[in-house]
Amino acid sequence: MFTPVALAFAVVAATASVYAQTLPDNCARTYVVQPGDFCDGISAAQNASTFQLANVNKFIDPLCDNLQPGETLCLGITGQDCTVTTVVAEGSSCVDIANTAGTSLDTLLANNPNVDENCSNIYPGEVLCTAKEVIVGST
Ligand SMILES: *[C@@H]1O[C@H](CO)[C@@H](O)[C@H](O)[C@H]1NC(C)=O
Ligand SMILES: *[C@@H]1O[C@H](CO)[C@@H](O)[C@H](O)[C@H]1NC(C)=O
Repeated sequence: MFTPVALAFAVVAATASVYAQTLPDNCARTYVVQPGDFCDGISAAQNASTFQLANVNKFIDPLCDNLQPGETLCLGITGQDCTVTTVVAEGSSCVDIANTAGTSLDTLLANNPNVDENCSNIYPGEVLCTAKEVIVGST
């Protein structure tokens, strides 16, 4: 059981490192992956939302299990780089998060296109952009 999983992981990782060499030209800031990093941990420490990290680095798979220590990620695109973030706490709602951050629910939803209109899909540890103005584009 261990071997096929390890083999599959190696194939995915090899693919990822090819794409990881190509950073966007308009990358505002970068981060070098450290051993043991996981996406939401990087997002929380670097103030780059869960959506933004995934959207800018499309080679990262949905489970975030293909990060390679030493590879460089882009944390945000110039002009669309939200650096004001909040880590979702257990039991908190989008309204709570928006109020605490001093922003509106509409701005919160616009800045986090991965969050559904009812805010029913956020999870503890997710990192949201909580800027007071709309920063994040959808592409
Ligand atoms: C992230 O934001 C917090 C709060 O503003 C700040 O204290 C911290 O230095 C920021 N970290 C980075 C890596 O920008
Ligand atoms: C949001 O809530 C409304 C009303 O309950 C429902 O009709 C809609 O399907 C919900 N949307 C999502 C994305 O959950």
